[in-house]
Amino acid sequence: MMEPGMNEPSATPETVDTATEAQKALIERVRDYRKQIQEGGGKDRIDTQHAKGKLTARERINQLLDEGTFQEIDAYMTHRHTDFGMHKSKPLGDGLVAGFGKVNGRRVCVYAQDFTILGGSFGEVAGQKVAKAMDLAMQAGVPVIGLNDSGGARIQEGVFSLAAYGELFYRNTLASGVIPQISVMLGPCAGGAVYSPALTDFVVMTKSISNMFITGPEVIKTVTQEVVDVETLGGAMTHSTVSGVAHFATESEEESFDTVRRLLSYLPSNNTEPAPAAEVTDDPWRMDPELNTLVPADPSTPYDMRVVIEKVFDLGSFMEVHANFAQNAIVGLARLHGQPVGVVGQQPLYMSGVIDIDASDKIARFVRFCDAFNIPLITFSDSPGFMPGVAQEHSGIIRHGAKIVYAYSEATVPKLTVVTRKGYGGAYIVMSSKHIHADLVYAWPTAEIAVMGADGAVNILFRKEISSNADPAAERARLVAEFRDKFSNPYRAAASGFVDDVLLPEETRPRLIAALELLRDKQNSLPAKKHGCMPL
Ligand code: HXC
Repeated sequence: MMEPGMNEPSATPETVDTATEAQKALIERVRDYRKQIQEGGGKDRIDTQHAKGKLTARERINQLLDEGTFQEIDAYMTHRHTDFGMHKSKPLGDGLVAGFGKVNGRRVCVYAQDFTILGGSFGEVAGQKVAKAMDLAMQAGVPVIGLNDSGGARIQEGVFSLAAYGELFYRNTLASGVIPQISVMLGPCAGGAVYSPALTDFVVMTKSISNMFITGPEVIKTVTQEVVDVETLGGAMTHSTVSGVAHFATESEEESFDTVRRLLSYLPSNNTEPAPAAEVTDDPWRMDPELNTLVPADPSTPYDMRVVIEKVFDLGSFMEVHANFAQNAIVGLARLHGQPVGVVGQQPLYMSGVIDIDASDKIARFVRFCDAFNIPLITFSDSPGFMPGVAQEHSGIIRHGAKIVYAYSEATVPKLTVVTRKGYGGAYIVMSSKHIHADLVYAWPTAEIAVMGADGAVNILFRKEISSNADPAAERARLVAEFRDKFSNPYRAAASGFVDDVLLPEETRPRLIAALELLRDKQNSLPAKKHGCMPL
């Protein structure tokens, strides 16, 4: 059923015949105001916005929310500034549309910068409106979605614009881990304007119309003499592949809103609620025999971990996050027997699934998000280890890699792990092993849980024996085979209880469903503290 509360002028009740002239005038005034509010910066600026291939703030909100559910607040607010011609124009709403509504029947708060009014620049009033929407979201315990399209801090308002951003950043920080926060980038986003999105949980960038940077190409040219275009500097592809600032890059505004709606379907409205279960559409006992032969016999031959994920979770339910950033790791949301779960894995197809700085950040951030919002974690571990090299060491692989251990150790949600192949050294420990208190750890028969791979181990342990042997190659091969037989398997770990069971790969789905069912009401708490000191 359509919800009441449309803000269109047509939603204003018809004037009844018995109304006096004074009553009619009151109603006409409301209608006039509503018309002005709807017109934003006027027809010409709306046309310019459309000519750039962009929707207006109101069109965006209407596309994002369930039809007719948007309830606007503060549409009458105007600025109080006079400098640089500001006194000449006081547009209603002041370049920001804020309010609340529903997405797939669930409540959300939303705001959208209106580029048709002073370039959507963020001033005192915009700050007050966003602050109110965020306060309402926190009080109601519902997600907040920001639609960003702005020239940044409103220059004419000076420190009042900066204060407005500061209030927004403060609220973003306090709301972090309490309600989901999603930023959709639909236009320019420069300077301090990038920090609110950066403080939110997910950033969705729309290709060709959005960009994000601290300083634009002109400033960069002056300061560092580098010449770069806007798209290369801070376009959707740059931030979704290179910097990791954006979690999703979409082809169109419509796709951005679809992404937000789908994302919300996995998330609870706030941190006190369980993640929303969906209707069960897939057989919990579905066992795909193709999984049994997916991992090649040769440990150096890659395979696609995405295939594992697609086959284990409810069909079609996997929504990858950060899909193009640090592709040696995979993170995303999926459903298992209808229950939302966070999926983390290595990708042997890309850099053999090694853990580098970007993969560490990607995994740690996602694990913490899932833990904050009661989303159980399921980890598919297959990594040869941390990335060696001077560049990685000097950029702090130690500090960044530590984030993964920290995030998993601290997570109190149900944690299930499947070691599919390489569980070598530090990578084995950090990827939600029993040793950092995963609840249940399973291994496939192809799992190799050891300090390192057979080749490397034999090189270190038996260098002298191999070089002094009459047939070094044969001796080497014999030792590698012996090492593999002894160490490159899951059974030593299983014999010590570090692996709870060795599964035939096809059994993974029903076994994870059963484990998740057991742990549904898991109780776990951390030592009392103000907050930990995560290695950032
Ligand atoms: C006031 C602004 C504005 C701003 C744009 N406008 N940005 N007004 N403050 N920050 C106005 C323009 O004057 C113009 O008004 C209208 O918005 C549309 O802008 P155009 O330039 O015509 O649009 P376009 O060609 O599409 O270019 C968009 C743009 C450009 C790339 C965003 O406007 C721009 O570079 N703006 C400045 C970006 C910036 O440096 N912002 C400050 C960042 S520093 P008229 O009336 O002429 O149509 C910052 C510090 C915050 O944000 C720190 C917080 C901690």
